[in-house]
Amino acid sequence: MSENKPLGLSGTTSESKSESKIEPCLPAKRALEGEQPNEASKRALTEQPGTARVLPQFRVANDPLKDGEGAAGAVNPDNANEGGNAKAKAKAKKRRGQNKDRDNRQPKEQNALCPNLVLGQTTCPRRETCRHEHDVSKYLSLKKPEIITSYFPTCPNFSTLGYCPMGFRCRFLSTHSANTTDSSTNNPNSDLHADPQPQLLPNAAMSAENPLWLANHEINKIDPQKKRELARKQIAFVKSDFVVDIMEALRNAPIPNANPVSGPTQSQQDRRKELINKYKDTRFFAQEKKPLDLHGKKILAPLTTVGNLPYRRLMRKLGADVTYSEMALALPMIQGTSAEWALPTSHISESQGYGIQLACSKPWQAAKACEAISTCLDTTSAISEINLNSGCPIDLLHRQGAGCAMMENPAKLIRCLNAMNYTSNDIPITLKLRTGAKDNHPIADTLITRIVQETDVAAFTLHGRSRQQRYTRDADWNYISQTAAALRMAEQTRLENKDDRDSSQSRIQFVGNGDIDNYQDWHRILDSDSNIDSLMVARSALIKPWIFEEIDAQQHLDKSSSERLQILRDYADFAMQHWGTDEYGIATSRRYFCEFMSFFHRYVPVGVLERVPIRMNQRVEKWKGRDELETLMASEDSRDWIKLSEMFWGKAEGFVFVPKHKSSMRG
Ligand SMILES: Cc1cc2nc3c(=O)[nH]c(=O)nc-3n(C[C@H](O)[C@H](O)[C@H](O)COP(=O)(O)O)c2cc1C
Ligand SMILES: [Zn+2]
Ligand SMILES: [Zn+2]
Repeated sequence: MSENKPLGLSGTTSESKSESKIEPCLPAKRALEGEQPNEASKRALTEQPGTARVLPQFRVANDPLKDGEGAAGAVNPDNANEGGNAKAKAKAKKRRGQNKDRDNRQPKEQNALCPNLVLGQTTCPRRETCRHEHDVSKYLSLKKPEIITSYFPTCPNFSTLGYCPMGFRCRFLSTHSANTTDSSTNNPNSDLHADPQPQLLPNAAMSAENPLWLANHEINKIDPQKKRELARKQIAFVKSDFVVDIMEALRNAPIPNANPVSGPTQSQQDRRKELINKYKDTRFFAQEKKPLDLHGKKILAPLTTVGNLPYRRLMRKLGADVTYSEMALALPMIQGTSAEWALPTSHISESQGYGIQLACSKPWQAAKACEAISTCLDTTSAISEINLNSGCPIDLLHRQGAGCAMMENPAKLIRCLNAMNYTSNDIPITLKLRTGAKDNHPIADTLITRIVQETDVAAFTLHGRSRQQRYTRDADWNYISQTAAALRMAEQTRLENKDDRDSSQSRIQFVGNGDIDNYQDWHRILDSDSNIDSLMVARSALIKPWIFEEIDAQQHLDKSSSERLQILRDYADFAMQHWGTDEYGIATSRRYFCEFMSFFHRYVPVGVLERVPIRMNQRVEKWKGRDELETLMASEDSRDWIKLSEMFWGKAEGFVFVPKHKSSMRG
């Protein structure tokens, strides 16, 4: 990558250091002048070696307290999704500087008001056994204080819905009820402003489970009844059993229910033979699929924890065309686990171009999770793809044979993809990969060639790093380009063979991923390599959520602190519409706000820098902002992130947030 001369707006070279004005931005096409497209595509991303310089008036002396671990860009998102199993955690390789055992889940409200009374009803049908508070006045006297903030003069749910489903539990109660300290009005939506009656929610069962669900334009939710049936193993996975049976027969695997001593029965053996004869020459998994078009789309990567629904809603508002759920694990989904089924839920603004991402270690898990998605959600029309994650490097998944480990067992990966393809009905199946397990042994190109021959995968996303590499060094865009070319060759061969598919089959989509953090690289890569359909952006969309706007405008945008605060306010708004405005909802919103800040604070404004762009992983001189708010927003100290949250939600009493990186903890 870096052996080539960087293009366009490169380098803090020694002669450029003395310049104190911002270099004008060249449109991507200018940067390409005189180059053969294919050469350009093989070049490194725009590069700025060394420490990025800020304008003299913004420089500050080094603060040893803040000289934590390396560059602001050194945040290493490995293990972003590691959780659970304490034993596994203990075994996991220790990485310095990380708070490995952090748990930022927020406690539930003490003395919570009975859900049957929150909207002013007077009776609880299970009063004898119900463990919630039933004395509304007492509840109100003990409740956390009202949130008074100019950023939300009215409860965000009340102002969007015309009533507040949180009722008496709302921390903005005074904005929709005249009296916040006694229950005599018996109506927490008695306000002043608008319709005091909750609108009838279309599905009573779902709204009982979560009153915000149907009111706040969220879709792709599991029917609670179906979730219970999953937990009780009452769902028949007809398609999964069928397809897995055939696969096992064809690969001559041991018969699962065979007697360990006497072996399979005659009828089991006969069934195997029958399956082999019937299906050995067919594509039994082939299905009619919805078309999938990622070409030129602005794609936000799947992001565990930070890529939650409110953040994705924000990114849709800021121009993302395609978004993905946080990675959901197939096994807990099949078992009906609520936390896992919360992950596929999306906002209505994500209806076009939304993928659910899965991780699994066995074909039967993959098959059943897809069958559950295609049969248990309220709708499947708003799911454009189910994406299998075979790029996740974390040890916890790797030990189970999931994530990156899938790439090391191509036959199993192919069985998973085919099983998913069959059980997902018309939803296309896509795959996300890394280059391979080892640094010097990339395998994605040969693997993709084989997958094209043996499956009906609709799209590939390649993150140009190996598992071993994690996030160190740059993504390898030469290799990404090479793999995209290998895909096109394989696709061509398949079309020529035409044995099992018609020639109208749409082009398999290829998405490159890794280190994209400015519009020039985006356009340069897409303009120069026609094998690549689009690019996926992860970390830089957290640091600079308006990156897609920059891509459209073909400019580096200098967002002021107040514009950035507006983005944070939108996030806070969407967070409360999702998690609620009661005590738990506010604490949860605040927690995810801080998770977002752990990336967002790394932005260095264009107007502060000597030259743009700087790279995401580049060290930056110590700097102060153009105003106090800008300086505060750039703080690496997690206590300052909490301080920012107080602008929206008031004092954070009793709130604990452990940042992922120890360098973000001060004091
Ligand atoms: C906080 C965080 C969480 C992530 N979670 C996932 C995930 O759930 N699934 C996945 O396929 N990749 C995940 N990734 C990897 C990204 O999708 C992406 O492949 C990677 O960060 C490289 O892109 P970038 O250089 O633009 O950041 C995560 C990355 C980060 C930073
Ligand atoms: Zn009750
Ligand atoms: Zn409210």
